[in-house]
Amino acid sequence: MTVSTVSILGLGTMGTAIADAFLQKGHTVTVWNRTEKKAGPLAEKGALASKCPESCMRSSSLTIIALLSDDIVRKVLSTCSNLAGCTIVNLTGSTPGQAKATSQIVHDLGASGYLHGFIGGFPEAVRAGAGTVFYSGPQKIFDTHQAMLKVLGDARWLSDQVQQASYIDNATLMMIVGTCGGFLQAMALVRAAGLDEAEFATQLVPGAMEAFAGWLLRLAEQVKERSYLPVHDGSVDLTLVATRNAVETAESLGVSTQIIQGMRDLMEKTVEEGRGHEEISVLVENLRNESNDDGR
Ligand SMILES: NC(=O)c1ccc[n+]([C@@H]2O[C@H](COP(=O)([O-])OP(=O)(O)OC[C@H]3O[C@@H](n4cnc5c(N)ncnc54)[C@H](OP(=O)(O)O)[C@@H]3O)[C@@H](O)[C@H]2O)c1
Repeated sequence: MTVSTVSILGLGTMGTAIADAFLQKGHTVTVWNRTEKKAGPLAEKGALASKCPESCMRSSSLTIIALLSDDIVRKVLSTCSNLAGCTIVNLTGSTPGQAKATSQIVHDLGASGYLHGFIGGFPEAVRAGAGTVFYSGPQKIFDTHQAMLKVLGDARWLSDQVQQASYIDNATLMMIVGTCGGFLQAMALVRAAGLDEAEFATQLVPGAMEAFAGWLLRLAEQVKERSYLPVHDGSVDLTLVATRNAVETAESLGVSTQIIQGMRDLMEKTVEEGRGHEEISVLVENLRNESNDDGR
């Protein structure tokens, strides 16, 4: 019997923000978390705390899962025997293969539907109903629950192929982790040079990010067209000179260059192939394994 409009499995940073977003909109929410005490603050706001994952999911027609990893999702699902009447929306970061396999497990448990999703935003944005969430799986299931999913922000359906959101998830993670790595390497250099880390970030990051946005969109157009000439922003030759300067400066300060080295090696390979005069976006051509030539 459903007693709430939505159930949440997992009360980490993201699951708690999701539960808060629904509570703020006046929905009845049932929650489950391995560490039960995390449900306390939500219960004070009106959430119903459940003792087991299956009863949590069966309390609502819609369940959102936000756990640490896919293997934990499966471990939790392995404790369930019947999810009839439940639609599961899994927002746990996963690989495309994991998304498909978990979808099958949920269907085998008799659930009414499964969507896989990717949250493109931080928990605070989701809490404020201003996140962007990508979903894949049957459009009919998405359409049925779209109004509820919009509580978290922009709800974007991608494809009937359940694994599709996971590609966006992992591409985004590559960008975030790479950017974070470059930033932390810069921080290490700034620190080793005796400069103020926070001042560096405050003075340079906001302007750089704004310029970066336009630059990355131009690179994306070139990658899509597979056309890297004429050079609009900077050639591989030019960027390689700058990268070598950065590596030499870091090394002179005893700072590890392990993160930027991968990019330097890629540029050197591209120059050796005679493509140094092309835009830096041409490096994408050297980021494919030879065996994968089917375009996916
Ligand atoms: N945080 C973000 O900025 C962000 C952004 C986009 C997407 N996401 C996605 O949202 C999902 C949740 O992220 P989060 O930030 O909420 O992570 P988190 O704060 O680390 O929370 C992890 C959750 O997984 C549970 N868990 C861990 N190990 C478990 C186990 N062995 N058995 C049962 N439950 C277990 C934790 O329960 P306990 O409380 O008992 O430890 C907690 O509910 C992830 O898949 C992540 O990729 C997060």
